[in-house]
Formats: sequence, structure tokens, C-alpha cells
Amino acid sequence: MAYKIAVIPGDGIGPEVIEAALHVIEPLIDAEFVEGEAGDECAEKHGDPLPEDTLELCHEADAILFGAAGETAADVIVRLRQELDLYANIRPVRGFPGLRELTGEPYVRDDVDFVIVRENTEGLYSGIEGRFRDTAYTLRIITEEGTRRIAEVACDLAEERGSNTVTCVHKANVMRETCGLFREVCKEVVESRGLEFEEYYVDAAAMFMITEPERFDVVVTPNMFGDILSDEAAALVGGLGLAPSGNVGDRHGLFEPVHGSAPDIAGKGIANPFATILSAVMMLEWLGEDEAAEAVREAVGEAIREGVVTPDLGGDKKTMEVAEFVREAALNRVQ
Ligand code: NAI
Ligand code: MG
Repeated sequence: MAYKIAVIPGDGIGPEVIEAALHVIEPLIDAEFVEGEAGDECAEKHGDPLPEDTLELCHEADAILFGAAGETAADVIVRLRQELDLYANIRPVRGFPGLRELTGEPYVRDDVDFVIVRENTEGLYSGIEGRFRDTAYTLRIITEEGTRRIAEVACDLAEERGSNTVTCVHKANVMRETCGLFREVCKEVVESRGLEFEEYYVDAAAMFMITEPERFDVVVTPNMFGDILSDEAAALVGGLGLAPSGNVGDRHGLFEPVHGSAPDIAGKGIANPFATILSAVMMLEWLGEDEAAEAVREAVGEAIREGVVTPDLGGDKKTMEVAEFVREAALNRVQ
């Protein structure tokens, strides 16, 4: 059966990295790719950054592949997460051999392998903000149900990875109520699943992620902490150009690079497509297309080993040259 995949390229480098990812996966899966508009340009054109027909397309699709939005990101991606109830944001942090030499960055690690499970629909990004006279405020909403389901996802992942520990990152010593509830429910879920509960305050976790990333395996954390820690963790494995993510709920899955629209390099054809290609790999896995997924992931590893990479990783290749290499390398693996 052919899948129906909604594709939202968005703004800036979004369309460039999406074109690259589609070039790689198109020959590997029986799917119809249907494009939807969203983002800054869409808002200018239609007066709405996330039109109703795009939303409808996402509701109908078997999966969604998203590029990046610009200044309207909150109205597009944050809204999609809430509308489609994509409550788990899964952000793997996995090194590839050869990256340290390529980037020349001493902090880049080829050997790290952990995953950040970020709560995706509540917390400080609940969108409940206001002003009262000279004071602005945001409500940090944490619910027992919201925490329970994200903790279950973290436990599922730990089991899949053959790990016996889930690490909760919070700040319950200061935010006693919101982080307190998050910590309490995570602990209860993790222990009820027969796994070991570990915890760090977010500030210490931010340090250990750089100095001793081997401390982490499956990390579960509220929305904004997860947002910040996952960009930090991306640096460990070569930067934002390599960081994929999946936003998943009980019915829908939306896959997107962690990075934004990168206006500073848009239009030059040099955006690193790996983050989006690896997001497409996560999509293939989520759809159950494991063989294709593995072929593409290995092909990305081969491109890195061979130095077929964009300037952010120290190479001189264009986005589509990298995509062409990965497409061929992946096809060789499935034939
Ligand atoms: P950004 O992630 O777009 O860029 C940060 C830095 O990383 C830039 O120097 C950029 O050139 C570089 N970079 C990012 N992706 C890259 C890639 N694939 N290859 C090579 N270099 C890459 O974040 P920034 O600059 O804070 O935000 C730019 C715009 O993106 C803003 O309008 C923001 O609202 C939006 N944004 C959208 C997101 C989304 O749609 N999910 C997420 C984050 C930001
Ligand atoms: Mg972010």
C-alpha cells in the first residue's frame, strides 16, 4: 500500500533540505508526497502561516515531513504539535565516526549515543501568555496526564534500546510544583515499568552533556529544557546540520530537523541536508520501513567517512551533491 506523506518545506533552507531528503527516500518507498504550504512566505501570500488545507493534509497523511519555518515558527510548528497532539519530541544524539576530524572541533564526539525525549505540548511553551500593566508572564502548565504519557514513551525507548535506565532532567528544587509533579510522575512510571529512575537538575545536566555525555542514555524532560538541551547536544555530534527529530503522538508523526530556516545561508545551496535526511530515516522507522531506514542511515555514515559533506562540516559539497551521494549509497544497500 502506498503511503501518503505530507511534505511542508517552509522557509529559508527548509525547501532546500526537503528537496534533498526527498531525493534520497523517493526511490526507497512506495509513497505519494503531497506538498503543503506553511511559514513566513505562506503568511505573506495567504495571510495565514498555517492554512486550513495544510492542516487538513496533515490530519489525513500517514506521516509528515517538515523543513523549517522562519519567524512564524511558533504559529506553525508549535501549533502543529498541539493540533495533532504530537506530545513526544524524540531527538536522538548520535555520533558518526569521522566527524571529529572533519569538523576539527575537539568537543565533537564520534561515540555518543543518547536520546532526548522532550515533552512537546505543554510546559513553558503552552502558549498561555499575557501582560498586566508593566508585567509580562507565561504560564508553565504541567499535567499529570501529559507527564505520564511522555514518561511512557521514554520507557518504551529505553526498552527498545536495551537500556535499564531513564534519566529525568528537571529543576524541582526551584520549580517545586511544576517540575515537582513532572519528577514525581516520571519516577512512578519508570519504576512501575521495572526500570531504574535517574535524575539531574537541568543546569548540571547541561554541563555533564558536554563533559561526560556517556552518563546519558534516555533523557526525559519538560518542553523548554528539551528544546535547549537538544541544540546543546547537537553540538556534540557536529552541529544543527546533523540533528534530526520526530514529533509523535498516538496517531500522527511529524519529522523535522532540529534547526530552523537558517536565513544566513539560505539560497546558497550549501545547507547540510543530513538533519532532514536523518529525520526522514526516523519517519521510515516509524512507518515500519526498517530496511530502507537502515540503508539511508548507513549511507549517511558513508558520506561522512568519505568526506562528502557541506561547508558546516568542513567540506565543499553542495546540498544536492551530498543528497545524490547518499541516494546512490542507500540504493546500493537495498539492491
Ligand atoms: P537556525 O537553526 O535556523 O540557525 C542557527 C545557525 O545554525 C545558523 O548559523 C545556521 O546557518 C546554522 N544552521 C542551521 N541549520 C543548518 C544546516 N542544515 N546546515 C548548515 N548550517 C545550519 O536558528 P536561528 O538562526 O536561531 O533561527 C532562524 C529562523 O528559524 C528564525 O526565524 C526562527 O524562528 C526559525 N526557527 C524555526 C524552527 C522550526 O521551524 N522548527 C526551529 C528553530 C528556529
Ligand atoms: Mg529549538
